[in-house]
Amino acid sequence: MKNKTLHLLVIGAGDRGSLFGRIAVKKNARIVAVADPSKKMRELMAEDHDIPLERMFKSGKAALKSGMPFDGVYIASPDKTHYRLARLALKEGYNVLLEKPMATTPRRCTALLKAQEKSGKCLVICHVLRYAPFFQIIKKITDSGELGDIISIDLIEDVGYWHFAHSYVRGNWRKEKTSAPVILAKSCHDLDIISWLVHTTPKRVYSSGIRQVFKSSNAPENAAKRCVDCPVKDCIFDARKFYLNHDPPIHWPYRVISPEDTSEKARLEAIKKGPYGRCVYHCDNDVLDNQDVVIEFSNGIRANFSLRFGGEEMTRKIFVQFEKGELAGNLVKGKITKKTYTGKREDTKVESINTKKLGGHGGGDPRLVQDFLDMIRGNDFKDSLTSVHQSLQSHLIAFAAEKSRKTGKLGRIIDFKRYMGDVFKLLKKHHKKHKQYKGKSKKKKKKRRKRKQSKKKSKKSKKSSKKKKKSKKSKSKKKSKKKNKKKRKSKKKSKKSKRKSKSKKTK
Ligand SMILES: NC(=O)c1ccc[n+]([C@@H]2O[C@H](COP(=O)([O-])OP(=O)(O)OC[C@H]3O[C@@H](n4cnc5c(N)ncnc54)[C@H](O)[C@@H]3O)[C@@H](O)[C@H]2O)c1
Repeated sequence: MKNKTLHLLVIGAGDRGSLFGRIAVKKNARIVAVADPSKKMRELMAEDHDIPLERMFKSGKAALKSGMPFDGVYIASPDKTHYRLARLALKEGYNVLLEKPMATTPRRCTALLKAQEKSGKCLVICHVLRYAPFFQIIKKITDSGELGDIISIDLIEDVGYWHFAHSYVRGNWRKEKTSAPVILAKSCHDLDIISWLVHTTPKRVYSSGIRQVFKSSNAPENAAKRCVDCPVKDCIFDARKFYLNHDPPIHWPYRVISPEDTSEKARLEAIKKGPYGRCVYHCDNDVLDNQDVVIEFSNGIRANFSLRFGGEEMTRKIFVQFEKGELAGNLVKGKITKKTYTGKREDTKVESINTKKLGGHGGGDPRLVQDFLDMIRGNDFKDSLTSVHQSLQSHLIAFAAEKSRKTGKLGRIIDFKRYMGDVFKLLKKHHKKHKQYKGKSKKKKKKRRKRKQSKKKSKKSKKSSKKKKKSKKSKSKKKSKKKNKKKRKSKKKSKKSKRKSKSKKTK
């Protein structure tokens, strides 16, 4: 079973679907069927994987209802379709790897969790960052307790100015209605990492955000509707820069803007006519380009998350403050600095990871696919790093953040438990069931501290009683020494006096 060749169905043969296909075949799996409403995309995937016509489906539903014996299904269709397709796949008895977000409402997320439990199959969410060695190192240090408890976490996501323009201004995730709020669509990864590190549920959530950059009021004077017609020089968002002349070239969006033909000529044609050649200030986007979320967890840890449209790098920057030290890291740079507060230079350590060699998402993509395939081969669905129950909390925080941001003029602090109601109960139940969050609550912390203190006290009292005993012993020793001295002296004296009396007698 360990080396069994697995037969997989891919639903949604776009960018992620084709990437998954390329990774899976390297890991002894075959893409044997594809479902995509776009004929172009179906054909491209079929060509890559030798899929016959009878296994090319126009819809995910048709593929899932076909009764074909797939070992697993990968769902990489648009966000809004995830819930229905995943539910059907589980109902039909398939193991599912589902792209994030798992669903776009709290109720639908919990419905998926219940459907997975009922099916007995696996439902893994593509929170790939948990699999990235960078975050695994941070998790290991955090869990080891070597720096003490976490006090706070700061996480920044720099989406990358051109990536943001590509996906969230011109591309598929530009409108909340057709995809999801950006805090869910993009940043559920980050909210997931925070949840994973803190080991407990949120208590309060607050968020504020704005669409600050990509709106018509910011358009330069005379800006045209399309970059190819635009007289404005040196616009950093000029589509020709990203898709034709970027140095070094950014390859992955080429297939997105022009799937059939990625030649320069075809790309130029795509930006002349397609959505990716539009002026970023004259698009129909409505998602935010900057958002902050503050989360207070029930064990007192506070986390600040910032989503930023910009950045040259497309990276995550993290800073974790502990009781006795700190961690600071940059995902793309592959650098983690660990400081222990001792004042000694040797207690600052730098860990370097060669992220470029590891694959997409800091090495998270190939590792997650491997884990999913291993689970199927081992027929062991109890737990994966990103099973649906593990992934629920991040999504719920995103919903709470949106509620916070959208309430009133200034936003509102959300009491997480109250806002989630029954959903919170379910979340808690699963935390306990899977022991995923050990819950170092304040009460438990106090107890631990008391236990530590009493241990210290008992150690001290033992030490002091030992000292007392020692001092008693030494005192008695001294006394006996003195006595012995006295005895010896008196003996000497008596001997002397005897000798004197003898000599007198002889005289
Ligand atoms: N885990 C990650 O880090 C990560 C990264 C990028 C994207 N994603 C997610 O992956 C999913 C796919 O993203 P993508 O970049 O491949 O998008 P994409 O637009 O390149 O591909 C989506 C494909 O789904 C097809 N499709 C549309 N409606 C469909 C339907 N009803 N049923 C089946 N297929 C349908 C489209 O024709 C297209 O080929 C999205 O939900 C996205 O949020 C996740």
